[in-house]
Amino acid sequence: MNAPELTEDENLGRLGMYQRATDSGVEWWRVSVADRPETYRLEHGVDHANGRGSVDIDLVVDAENLRAKLKKWRREGFAIDADTIESEQSATERVAFMPELQRVATLAAAAKQKLKLNEDGVETVRIGHLDVPCGADGPLVPRLNPAYLFSPRFNDIVEDIVENRRVMLIGHTGAGKTSLIEQVAARSRHGVLRSNMNGQTTVGDFVGFWTVKGGETLWVDGVLPTAMREGLWLIVDEIDFAEPSILAALTAVLEPHGRLVLKEKGNEIVAPHPSFRLFATANAVGAMSQFRHLYQGANLMNEAFLDRWRVYLLDYLTPAEEADVLLRTLSPNMTRPLATTLAAIAADCRAAFAREDLSSAFSTRRLLDWAELMMRTGDPERAAGPAIYAKVSPEDAALIRGIIRHHIAPAGSE
Ligand SMILES: Nc1ncnc2c1ncn2[C@@H]1O[C@H](COP(=O)(O)OP(=O)(O)O)[C@@H](O)[C@H]1O
Ligand SMILES: [Mg+2]
Repeated sequence: MNAPELTEDENLGRLGMYQRATDSGVEWWRVSVADRPETYRLEHGVDHANGRGSVDIDLVVDAENLRAKLKKWRREGFAIDADTIESEQSATERVAFMPELQRVATLAAAAKQKLKLNEDGVETVRIGHLDVPCGADGPLVPRLNPAYLFSPRFNDIVEDIVENRRVMLIGHTGAGKTSLIEQVAARSRHGVLRSNMNGQTTVGDFVGFWTVKGGETLWVDGVLPTAMREGLWLIVDEIDFAEPSILAALTAVLEPHGRLVLKEKGNEIVAPHPSFRLFATANAVGAMSQFRHLYQGANLMNEAFLDRWRVYLLDYLTPAEEADVLLRTLSPNMTRPLATTLAAIAADCRAAFAREDLSSAFSTRRLLDWAELMMRTGDPERAAGPAIYAKVSPEDAALIRGIIRHHIAPAGSE
């Protein structure tokens, strides 16, 4: 808080906090650039022992006026606080950034719109706020779930798919990572291959291998070259469990037009079909690393690898969204009051999981299954047996039973 000695000329044009001690505290003027060129914003206040005072004067002046003020303040004993000095150029840049960015983004959006109009003939389907080009259809297109809810949060992800970006979805089990990709594919009729890295997948399954058949030696493509050649969408599930050799093969195709070199097959080059898309899902990567202890055995992914993806954190649906999904999935029998209570129970179970009071996650799938069964039996407790309790430890079952009781009073207990 030491005030440097400045000549008058140096002092002019310096932006920052000018202050002086008074009997009641520290009186200050803050000088910053205003949003019009060559104008300055002056704010005044007094700080007392109990903290920063509020702004009681707030005005915009021109350079001439500022010069006069600076002279006056100097006479009155104000000095600039060295820690707050900001050059006029950097302050102007700071203020100018957002309007400049907005101008550029608007131009980019307009250019994209124009491009789309030129590309006629390509069939598209509307998903969220985007027109997604359709694929060739075929047996690998996932089954469409008419009750699937596209949250507005998913728009950026869908746009990345259209733009052929590599998308990694991270989030708890059952948050909807796989189904988001599958439902985009189902609506736009693209075939999907899934490969789970947690367990049995070898680099041979993934990249390909030689085999002998009827005395002949044959090459069998793995899922990666198959998807690349046939223009399928490949979901690499639980990528944080993948072997290093699989990650190495993947790295080559992470660029939008990246080619795969099949070293085992005499360095044959596989170029990606224009419809090929690559996705990964993980539970405990990056922003989810804080939950690593809940997903035993997951590897840390290095940042250079992560930088080749757009990584989206996918949280569970909100209780309101989940109530909607219950209503849509179990229509016409499900009602709004029932759906709201069930969504609240799921939210409480997830909070208990995040606190580590519960060791099992509560997926939307589990909630839907439990709801369906209770509508058949009319008994939430009995339905919870096969849908929930039998799948978790006795301790978890007891805790979930408590949460359910908290939301649902037994029949006739008024
Ligand atoms: N937005 C949604 N709308 C409807 N159902 C959903 C939605 N998100 C998830 N689900 C349900 O939750 C289930 C589990 O989601 P899934 O994609 O398998 O999760 P994850 O891959 O994250 O483990 C899905 O099969 C689906 O029934
Ligand atoms: Mg999944």
